[in-house]
Amino acid sequence: MEWANSKQITDEQKVVLKTLAEHVGKPSLKFLEVGNWLGESTLVLAEVAKRHFGKLYCVDWWKGNPGTELESIAAKEDIFSLFWQRICVEGFQDVVVPIRGSSDSAAEILKEQVFDLIFIDGDHRYEQTLRDIKNYASFVKPNGGILCGHDCEGYIADFDENFLNKGKNIDCHETVHCGVVLAVGSVFNNYSINYSIWSTICEPGKRTWLPTDLIYQNLPELKQGPPPLLGISDNFKIFRFGKQVFAVPENIRDFDITQEHTTASPDVIISETLDQLEDLIGERIWVSSESPMLLSSYRGFNLVKYKEHIYALHESIGPLDLTLTTEPEIKQFKKSGKCFLENSLDAVKEKIDSSIPILVEENYRKFNIVFYRGKYIAVAQDLGKISDWTRFDFKAHEESFKCFVGDSHVEVLRQIDQMSLSILEKAIEEKEFELKKSLNENKLKNSRIASLEKQIEADSKVLETFKKKEIPGSSEN
Ligand SMILES: C[S@@+](CC[C@H](N)C(=O)[O-])C[C@H]1O[C@@H](n2cnc3c(N)ncnc32)[C@H](O)[C@@H]1O
Repeated sequence: MEWANSKQITDEQKVVLKTLAEHVGKPSLKFLEVGNWLGESTLVLAEVAKRHFGKLYCVDWWKGNPGTELESIAAKEDIFSLFWQRICVEGFQDVVVPIRGSSDSAAEILKEQVFDLIFIDGDHRYEQTLRDIKNYASFVKPNGGILCGHDCEGYIADFDENFLNKGKNIDCHETVHCGVVLAVGSVFNNYSINYSIWSTICEPGKRTWLPTDLIYQNLPELKQGPPPLLGISDNFKIFRFGKQVFAVPENIRDFDITQEHTTASPDVIISETLDQLEDLIGERIWVSSESPMLLSSYRGFNLVKYKEHIYALHESIGPLDLTLTTEPEIKQFKKSGKCFLENSLDAVKEKIDSSIPILVEENYRKFNIVFYRGKYIAVAQDLGKISDWTRFDFKAHEESFKCFVGDSHVEVLRQIDQMSLSILEKAIEEKEFELKKSLNENKLKNSRIASLEKQIEADSKVLETFKKKEIPGSSEN
């Protein structure tokens, strides 16, 4: 379980969180944390809560953040059980109150509650972060309660606005949680940021938010700690800090961007975008999250995470290197129903579900009706079982009346009826034609018989006459 050891919160952030919690510490306090995962930050808050005989409410659906590695881990592991096990082992089972569900629905349940501190670390995308902040802000005690959250690497002004907008709908873009930076900055005028933890305090007596401005023991004053590695090239390590990206030569070991970003060594190459930086260093940069990762398979599709998207690739495509696949190729796969592209595992599975045919009616005039990719399809039973719908040649079968496609069940039944009717009409037409032909032939036969009879009669008469008028010489016979 290598993933279980990956850190969600740094030691410096634990100090910041603990200091914020202590600031509102008093007997029977109440804290709330939105987004707990395996409980690293939960343990920090729970410890303070326990010391003050208080409670910590924990809101999470424990299925990870849409479109992230956490989501793929949660698809295979029971994260809630692991979380609760940890809480119990640490002796906080009487302090922590888990609320399992979406942060939106939990906000409905918690409507009547008031909290001394609320820490938000759930979905990091812009819309949901904004909703979480707005929903939960009103539950903070008006007399000096604290509202704070994780993963805010700076103020809006610290970044290029286009960069923030580009990344606001994904969890993390080039190591920056753009959605959080934008959402916090759009709700509050004044707030503190320490080691990417943003915090505001409700001014006693008023419902206005002020920066917490606390002093953190033994911590240098920093908005953001050293950023994680963004990528690598052959000879450089790549980082983003604020508006700039840095290529730091492999051999420089102790370069601290948080201290030296303004006076960087001449060997460190700085630019504003990764593309420009690639040009400057003359090397291809590999961004950490860029290699495709096979997550699982689902109903004949391989689910692969690549560049913040989840790709569902049908098994019939065979092995495919997404790093080498072109845009038109993906388009072609999508068109044939062999590929879906979404931002989360749930969304891509939903797409697959709606792409697998569902039997709607069996044996209607020797056709089966299925619902497939938003259409009703009638397939002639004599085509047998269709094992791969992505290869089914609708056009050819439509042309030979073995398949009908429509927007509703009734529409395809009508098409089958029409076809059966026209086959019947044609058959009758053909029979009538046959009949006419036979009748005509009979008529012909009859008139021939009549004329033959007439001829025979005439010939017989001639014969009689012949017999009466003896032919000279005939009596000798
Ligand atoms: C980054 S993790 C939290 C990490 C945790 N605070 C820590 O420091 O250890 C985010 C958590 O938010 C949860 N989450 C994301 N979106 C959510 C939503 N809309 N409703 C409820 N939980 C959500 C995920 O399941 C995940 O456990």
